[in-house]
Amino acid sequence: MQITNAVVPVAGMGTRLLPATKSQPKEMLPVGKRPVVQYVVDELRRNGLRQVLLITGSGKHSIENHFDVDPVLIRFLRETNKEALLKELDFERQDMRYFYTRQKMQLGLGDAILHAAEFTGNKPFVVALGDSIIGRHAQSRTLSKMMEIFTSGTAEAVIAFEEVPEEEVHHYGIAEPETMPKDGEKFVIRDLIEKPSKDEAPSRLAVAARYVFSQRIYEALRETKPGKGGEIQLTDAIRLLIRGGERVVGVKLPPDEARYDIGNHESYFQAFIDFALHDPEYGERMRAFCRELLNENH
Ligand code: UTP
Repeated sequence: MQITNAVVPVAGMGTRLLPATKSQPKEMLPVGKRPVVQYVVDELRRNGLRQVLLITGSGKHSIENHFDVDPVLIRFLRETNKEALLKELDFERQDMRYFYTRQKMQLGLGDAILHAAEFTGNKPFVVALGDSIIGRHAQSRTLSKMMEIFTSGTAEAVIAFEEVPEEEVHHYGIAEPETMPKDGEKFVIRDLIEKPSKDEAPSRLAVAARYVFSQRIYEALRETKPGKGGEIQLTDAIRLLIRGGERVVGVKLPPDEARYDIGNHESYFQAFIDFALHDPEYGERMRAFCRELLNENH
């Protein structure tokens, strides 16, 4: 069965990026020329998904506006001889269907995903976190691979992982793999540990913002007890699946498909610099500018 539905949670408060996120969603912050969530949708489309449910919350209207056709802006560009800029709005007319629902209270990623149950019904679906880009300019095919693994019927959930430095394992959900995978390879997940210390971490494989689930995840989420701050953790629900004997498979991202996490300042800055330095139009000048800047400072 072909998977066509994707769920993109964008309801989080983004407190780690204050003050930038005080009155705008972190998912709308620009990375290079585009807002983060536009890359996420591009990646979904490139991998064959055509229906997207965005789980929004208060203060997230600009995301809906971004994907709508804006006739006033189009007329303005035409009337002011700026027709060349219309190509920047091509994404508005892509063959994607957008659906929206709101998470009333920010009770965690797990709770946000529960809001998709009616939309996905009993069909398998993709979850793509709205604050993470996979691959430079979203050129990633890993979701296709994950969906293939899922539809071959050998897993109840498929999750993307990236290798992170030892000092960073305490920020992420970390996999205990049955055997250590090479780049781009799949592996069976024995357990998933949320934010372990360096010494407790069974590997350096961190959950990387992309998932394929069957409707079994909803049952697991409903059974999951709220943790810190009343939040329902997705990792806990995945653990329940594993404990219940379900096969959960990981895919290690290949090195040219890095995850850009727009959830904290350091990795947001890194993502912006990386995308700007590799922009087809401005990249060369940006590289010269950075070289000059670095030379000046040494
Ligand atoms: P984070 O775990 O980074 O949470 O969200 P957050 O609340 O946005 O960030 P901080 O910790 O306050 O800085 C990962 C993804 O899950 C969504 C976010 O919008 C983001 O895309 N999310 C998170 C929800 O949709 N609902 C939630 O209750 C929490």
